[in-house]
Amino acid sequence: MNKDPKIIVTDDGSHSVYLPEINESYHSSHGAYREAIHIFLLYGLEAWYARNRDKLPLRIFEVGFGTGLNAWLTLIWAEQNNVPILYHTIEPFPLEKEIYSQLNYTQIDETLTHYNNQFQRLHNMDWDSGKPMTDYFNIKKEQVKLEDVIMYGTDIVYFDAFSPKKQPEVWEKELLAKVVGAMNPNAVFVTYCAAAKVKKYLQDLGLTLDVVPGPPGKKEMIRAWKLS
Ligand SMILES: C[S@@+](CC[C@H](N)C(=O)[O-])C[C@H]1O[C@@H](n2cnc3c(N)ncnc32)[C@H](O)[C@@H]1O
Repeated sequence: MNKDPKIIVTDDGSHSVYLPEINESYHSSHGAYREAIHIFLLYGLEAWYARNRDKLPLRIFEVGFGTGLNAWLTLIWAEQNNVPILYHTIEPFPLEKEIYSQLNYTQIDETLTHYNNQFQRLHNMDWDSGKPMTDYFNIKKEQVKLEDVIMYGTDIVYFDAFSPKKQPEVWEKELLAKVVGAMNPNAVFVTYCAAAKVKKYLQDLGLTLDVVPGPPGKKEMIRAWKLS
């Protein structure tokens, strides 16, 4: 259970959610929106797409739906680039409506406001179901832990669990092996985390790391490729 979630404002003005019980927030205090764009959209999705333009539809697996920010930004990208995406996201502890309905992501700028309806639909759709959200974006949203989910072949992994300090079990080698095992040839794994232990596990599991800068406030992040 994620107890007593509180909405906080991060440095770029976008909201995040803070959990007092574990003293952890869902995003960087330096900017939730900027962080999501940097790690998942630029260094994950766009980087993969630049190398694999012909392999469609593109399949993404996300650990931790949370505020829905990554899923929604990916939906917008799919619409703007006319690229079909199948998005599989998991979340054992969904946020209540009183929290997600107050998040300010759709007010960041006019373009994003245009997709307000899709943000609400992503949250309001039933758990454990799949849905075509737009012409280009299909989502399957499951209320399940990474430990228990059945994974399908994926091209991009958005690994957005809580930090290894707060949630070590999710970063254990056995669980990472499950994720890496489901990655297609040429797939990429991205996360905000830059822990040496996680890098080593991913390398041991056969992925190739490249050095990429982290989002604002962070020197680096992990990006790892399954080169065929
Ligand atoms: C750092 S937050 C990020 C959430 C989301 N990507 C976002 O942008 O709001 C981590 C998320 O992982 C979820 N989570 C916790 N335990 C998990 C588990 N065992 N498997 C999958 N997700 C988990 C949390 O509930 C939380 O929503």
